[in-house]
Amino acid sequence: MSGTWDELIQEIKNRLDIVDVVSEQVVLKRKGNSYWGLCPFHKDKNPSFCVTPSMGIYKCFSCGEAGDAIKFIMKTKNMEFREVIEELAEKFGLEVPTSHKSDGSVREIKEQMLKATEVAAMFYNDLLLRNKDNNAEVAMQYLAKRGIGTDIIKKYHIGVASKSFTALYDELRKDFSNDILEKSGLITKSEKGGYIDRFRNRVIIPIQNENGQFVAFGARAIEAGQSPKYLNSSDSLIYNKSRLLYGLYTAKDAIKKEDGVILMEGYFDVISSQAHGIENCVASCGTSLTTEHVKLLSRYTKSRRIYLSFDTDSAGQKATARGASVIKEVFAGLGDVKQFDESYSLTTADKYACEIRVIAPPEGKDPDEFVRSVGADAYKTYIQNAPLFVDFQINSILKNKDKYKTPQEKAQYVSTFVPVLSEIKNKIIRSEYVDMVAQALGIDTDAIKTEINAYERANIPQVERIVKNVTKNDSIIQKAQKKLLSMFLVPDSRFTFTQINDMIGDVAFADEILIIVKSTIDKLICTVNNVKELLEHLYTEFVDKPEIQALLPELVQASEAYRGLSDEDFANTIFEIIAKINQCKHAQEIKHIRKKYQDIDDNDPEALKIQIQLRDKIKNKNR
Ligand code: CTP
Ligand code: MN
Repeated sequence: MSGTWDELIQEIKNRLDIVDVVSEQVVLKRKGNSYWGLCPFHKDKNPSFCVTPSMGIYKCFSCGEAGDAIKFIMKTKNMEFREVIEELAEKFGLEVPTSHKSDGSVREIKEQMLKATEVAAMFYNDLLLRNKDNNAEVAMQYLAKRGIGTDIIKKYHIGVASKSFTALYDELRKDFSNDILEKSGLITKSEKGGYIDRFRNRVIIPIQNENGQFVAFGARAIEAGQSPKYLNSSDSLIYNKSRLLYGLYTAKDAIKKEDGVILMEGYFDVISSQAHGIENCVASCGTSLTTEHVKLLSRYTKSRRIYLSFDTDSAGQKATARGASVIKEVFAGLGDVKQFDESYSLTTADKYACEIRVIAPPEGKDPDEFVRSVGADAYKTYIQNAPLFVDFQINSILKNKDKYKTPQEKAQYVSTFVPVLSEIKNKIIRSEYVDMVAQALGIDTDAIKTEINAYERANIPQVERIVKNVTKNDSIIQKAQKKLLSMFLVPDSRFTFTQINDMIGDVAFADEILIIVKSTIDKLICTVNNVKELLEHLYTEFVDKPEIQALLPELVQASEAYRGLSDEDFANTIFEIIAKINQCKHAQEIKHIRKKYQDIDDNDPEALKIQIQLRDKIKNKNR
């Protein structure tokens, strides 16, 4: 197709799916006709960001950012409108009218870098396969020892870097400028001032992005004593470690098919596993897992089922715990993490925000060694029986029980696993686990329960205490906050208390009474089952605080206004109230600084500081 610039824009808009576009950077959950997630434009702890596919738009109810798919790309990738259109035109195979082609310098540089990286990958691969370098044989032997033969070498484009200082440079300088080669991390300046190859005397593992483009390298030492063990490309215009997962290009179909992904630690874990038929695995490239990695993965698995298959040593255990908390962070506010297996009842893919499982064969080998020595079938059995993260944690607690004998040691130990037990939402399951742990360690069940309660009380989100005194006439902000509390008391809401609590997040309540009511609700929601019970408990809690009790009927009355709302409207109402509160707070802050500014002498050195503060606040408001 060849048409005008406007026609091109229209065609691109027709082809763009806002949910797909946003999903590249935000984990979205469907609620009715819209999708909700954490806003990428401000530090959002609860989903205030809403995508409405029928209208092709997104809007954040907290910070107000809104627009269509193209604006989203411009904002999140920091690109100009023209750049976005050109990139999308290329992606969709549409022609850009010549009159509108820009010189696109950055785009051209990126293209050159991609080209150079690909040529380099082919060069290293060629050295190895065609035995073109002295090092090729050593590398071949090294790989053979690791169970890697020609087929795998070809599939993963594995190569070898020569001992020579300029083997690659000599080849590539013919076609690429020094600047491009240096930007791509292929050469570095030598002490003498010339350029030398960055990777020498190593097995080369080319890193491909999701689309199969070559963007970087991991380079493994071949000789004993060679350091570091892995030398990795640094981030560049075409490579961002925290957003790329090794093996994803070859794993993505399998991840979709299996509806699950296995996270491993090393390049060779992924290569060996995939080569042995466990295809849905990926690894980060010499960095620890990031929230961006998890977001990337969540686009491929509907159930958001993530297996952690790290080393079984203590470093690996730490990585497992850290990995799980990164995953939880990404899905926070989007629902519960799956905490128990219901193998006999059908669950829909959307029931849980995510599912985290751990693969930890007792043999204590990494996946690479395991599939090669014990076998892929055995590994697959471990996948099938992989415990949920919570069960894995409880199991580790029980396994270590014999190390703790004296009362002091036990007390110390209890404090390490109380947070684990406290995370279990379902009361019945929690109590089962508490019993199990109590019995195994020979500790009184009630003692553990008391510890959990104390832990939970201490961890009630610390609310900011802005205004201490309750004023007679409610301010707008107080009214809004009462409305927010009344959302807990809507009798027919289909949201659980925890979900409502998550949606409300850490909005700071404005006066002592509201703060007390909110933190009491926080405490109660784990133990009550419905609005009636919640209210009964609230009345009991405040039996000797009539001034707080008096607030309860007011909240009940306010909640009537929100009866019969659809889930979507219910959530929207909460987010709108929060937005209102944030707006008021911001306005209050500006007012406060304005007042300070007015009162200060112009010659006071503080004046300029306050002026800048004021300007920044106002700018933020208009954003
Ligand atoms: N890694 C790295 N730099 C290092 C060591 C490790 O970037 N100096 C990264 C690599 O991505 C590597 C992963 O961490 O694949 C796992 O490290 P490790 O467990 O040490 O490597 P293995 O994959 O077990 O290495 P090998 O089997 O090659 O000994
Ligand atoms: Mn290994």
